[in-house]
Amino acid sequence: MCGIVGAAAQRNVTKILVEGLKRLEYRGYDSAGLAVICDQQLTLRKALGKVAGLEEKCIANPVKGVVGIAHTRWATHGKPSELNAHPHSSDHIAVVHNGIIENHAQLRQRLRNQGYEFVSETDTEVISHLLHSLYDQAGSLREALRLAIAEFDGAYALGVISTREPDTLVCARSGSPLVVGVGFEENFIASDPLALRQVTDRFIYLEEGDLAVVTAANIEIFEQSGKPVTRPVDRITETDEASDKGQYRHFMLKEIHEQTRVLRNTLQGRVSKTAVLDGCFGTDAQTIFDQVEAVQILACGTSYHAGMIARYWFEDWAGIPCAVEVASEYRYRKSVVRPNTLFVSISQSGETADTLAALRGSRESGYLASLTVCNVANSSLVRESDLSLMTLAGPEIGVASTKAFTSQLVALQLLVIALGKRAAMSRETEAELVAALHQLPGLCEQVLALDSQIVRISEAFTEKKNALFLGRGVDYPIAMEGALKLKEISYIHAEAYPAGELKHGPLALVDDDMPVVAVAPNNELLEKLKSNLEEVQARGGKLFVFADESAGFMNDGNTTVFNLPHAPLSIAPILYTLPLQLLAYHVAVLKGTDVDQPRNLAKSVTVE
Ligand code: F6R
Repeated sequence: MCGIVGAAAQRNVTKILVEGLKRLEYRGYDSAGLAVICDQQLTLRKALGKVAGLEEKCIANPVKGVVGIAHTRWATHGKPSELNAHPHSSDHIAVVHNGIIENHAQLRQRLRNQGYEFVSETDTEVISHLLHSLYDQAGSLREALRLAIAEFDGAYALGVISTREPDTLVCARSGSPLVVGVGFEENFIASDPLALRQVTDRFIYLEEGDLAVVTAANIEIFEQSGKPVTRPVDRITETDEASDKGQYRHFMLKEIHEQTRVLRNTLQGRVSKTAVLDGCFGTDAQTIFDQVEAVQILACGTSYHAGMIARYWFEDWAGIPCAVEVASEYRYRKSVVRPNTLFVSISQSGETADTLAALRGSRESGYLASLTVCNVANSSLVRESDLSLMTLAGPEIGVASTKAFTSQLVALQLLVIALGKRAAMSRETEAELVAALHQLPGLCEQVLALDSQIVRISEAFTEKKNALFLGRGVDYPIAMEGALKLKEISYIHAEAYPAGELKHGPLALVDDDMPVVAVAPNNELLEKLKSNLEEVQARGGKLFVFADESAGFMNDGNTTVFNLPHAPLSIAPILYTLPLQLLAYHVAVLKGTDVDQPRNLAKSVTVE
């Protein structure tokens, strides 16, 4: 989603702001802007499109200042335009904002009645005028911000500067993430630590309702009640390589190829040769796990697909009833919670607004406890859940989730086994599942080595407007994930169906212009799937079958077979994800779309 960077230093901060924005661009990117204070003057620059456009403007018409704020915008209120780009100013005040102020219309009307004129369609402009209207009476930017946020309904992370306090940056968060970066005689703020890795490795994670006053020399934090508070400073030890594409043309391709290493990481220290080590869920887990009788999974998008797959595993391997739901639906309906149900959220970012709201809403619903499967250690979901299991995929920059998804699946298998062995799972089954997990990285490496074959298959998709993805059982959510990848980065309309559903409607769409992708490991549903695929062949559909080498599919004029090495069935869904990711990637490259930053999408969806 949108990104925030801010700096208070003793040097010109413009470059720091622009570099920070570039690192945040993957989160949302229809426009960008910055504001700095120099000689008691507020200078703003804004550009539609990429941060590079803003950078060019800052070079053509240089800006200098020791205090500043900057923003990449992903439009929620008002179309992408320079006028709607942040920062928004009101006389001596400038504001950047992530989130949504839900009562902006009422506040706007009140401010209009006071004589304020609005030039943008954004909810953020309400904030700048409100701060301006409160400033004189409040006497300081900090107090004005405290008064203003008391009036907001909704979610926000805010960075504010004023020429009246030219050394100071104030910021606040509620519902959207914000960190303070701790430097040497300079300090920073950002919506994601990644934005500041070029200037510091020390971060303070602001808590819900916190407000901070940041200068080059000092950081003061106040909790919601207004009381000063000390928050710990965390040192991030990860290398900076995540923000570098290395030898790869796109982050997405780099992240696809990282999966062999990433999945090893996810397993490391968590499994012996034959068992899942209980300690990997934390010391509190044992007593909670002993009581679990059912699981409710909540997630969005790709993470939801991971949850759908885990449901098969929970019920099939562990005998534990499991329900899965999209968080944006679940949060607004009344649900009946069975006794001793574990609430499990799945999220790459740990900041997805709907998933977080589902977790918060679950507290009064009678769940046994909450656990999150997450990739970001200090994210809101991790901090607010009772237990967490980190996926350890490293920062994912490409908007389309790849390594985060497969590492979620591995982490979920660990959870299924850990709970399963307290329920119906035998030691032998655990040992078999763990042995298969040990084989997974090596098998991934073999599949990724077949990349060039996928380039050839992808040529058949570039002129197509639609595609169908089919799978049965646990491979149906894999088909859904394949369709999601294709549509989000190549803009080809792709839908997934359980193959058995084909004749109940979608078969009407099949003709010789319809590519149909099938996920076909050699499992107990293979023969059923083959019958469904014959229905496609009979209608002249072009079949692309990703199949186990022993599944017996043959290439012919209408059928292209991509053989995968034989793999234990428990890990097959993870393995079959890889060629579908590569297919989407290569189709997008051939079509010339913006692979890492597809239109209209954002990496971390911090608004509902
Ligand atoms: C698709 C994708 C999204 C996310 C979804 C949830 O490639 O990345 O569908 O999976 O926005 O995000 P997280 O996992 O951060 O909660």
